[in-house]
Amino acid sequence: MKYIRPLQLGSLTLPSNIFYAPLAGCSDFPFRKMSARYTPGLMFCEMVKMDALVRSDYSSFRLLDYDESMRPIGAQLCGSKLQFAKECARIVEDLGFDTLDLNCGCPVDKVTKDGSGSAMLKTPWLIGDILHEMASAVSIPVTVKVRCGWDEHSINAPQITQIAELAGAKAITIHGRTRVQGYKGLAERSYIKESKAVAKDIKVIGNGDVFCGHSGIRFFEETGCDGILAARGTMGQPWIAEDIRRYDQGLPALSFTGDAYKQLLMDHLAYCIAYGNDKKALLDLRRVGCWYLKKGKGTKAIREGINKAKSLDSALEVIQSYDWSSTSFTIESTQHA
Ligand SMILES: Cc1cc2nc3c(=O)[nH]c(=O)nc-3n(C[C@H](O)[C@H](O)[C@H](O)COP(=O)(O)O)c2cc1C
Repeated sequence: MKYIRPLQLGSLTLPSNIFYAPLAGCSDFPFRKMSARYTPGLMFCEMVKMDALVRSDYSSFRLLDYDESMRPIGAQLCGSKLQFAKECARIVEDLGFDTLDLNCGCPVDKVTKDGSGSAMLKTPWLIGDILHEMASAVSIPVTVKVRCGWDEHSINAPQITQIAELAGAKAITIHGRTRVQGYKGLAERSYIKESKAVAKDIKVIGNGDVFCGHSGIRFFEETGCDGILAARGTMGQPWIAEDIRRYDQGLPALSFTGDAYKQLLMDHLAYCIAYGNDKKALLDLRRVGCWYLKKGKGTKAIREGINKAKSLDSALEVIQSYDWSSTSFTIESTQHA
């Protein structure tokens, strides 16, 4: 075991330095129940807006629902209003979260138009001010997640690393793409290496294109980062933390036969049914089923069957009657691997 180890964030010891990302619309309660089986060092709920928290918006609080199996668990807040920072941080701490993260990476126009999310990259001093307010209000570790800059001409992740450290943040997660880049191209790892070089005690967490054990470990090798955060790589592959640990130990990746893969899908669905109603579970199944099944060979027919099903019962019938032995699943190496 060379790279995967416990990580200290202030007074909190995380069991490992592999994190699972906040994913709006994806890292919901059932997703995190599945993820918890593979014990990431820290996992996140979906991002929540600060404005919504202070006005006690029910659906935002619902996004922050978790159970003990999901610990250590982090909440992520998005917002640029300094006056809400302390109150929101206290709400998160009172809800029992282990860590609190400030989102400075969301590229969506609806979010950036009021200066929040990745628009904060244009006001690094404000990131520092908000982090300082949060860190002084709570005893849980406060962290920040950024992109490496707004565009290729304004790369400022190393500068923000220093600002965040001075403000009292215990970790900074850096997605190696700019806001302008969106999700195009490969994440650039040199900016993460530069940020690690200027960090004193703040932990630097690398993010971007961790899709398999190999690409996870390469991240540590190439950047010297303290930890990694898997995002899209967790979708339909909740065991990626285990694969990264196995790669670090020189063990082969987990592999699943058709029936075992079917069981994973069924287990995820069972969590969806237990958490929501049948109508919602059917919608979840279409979304989640697509993540799980698109990685497999011979799955086109079942994906179509699930998408056409008009009720949860008929979707379950499609899954149960399918000949899973004709399917196979392999996790492809990625370009970064
Ligand atoms: C569907 C989706 C939702 C996301 N939601 C969030 C979010 O709520 N908060 C956040 O900081 N990043 C969010 N991200 C960004 C990811 O956490 C991550 O930074 C990005 O996907 C790059 O990592 P990857 O290449 O490993 O996927 C989201 C990304 C996707 C694809």
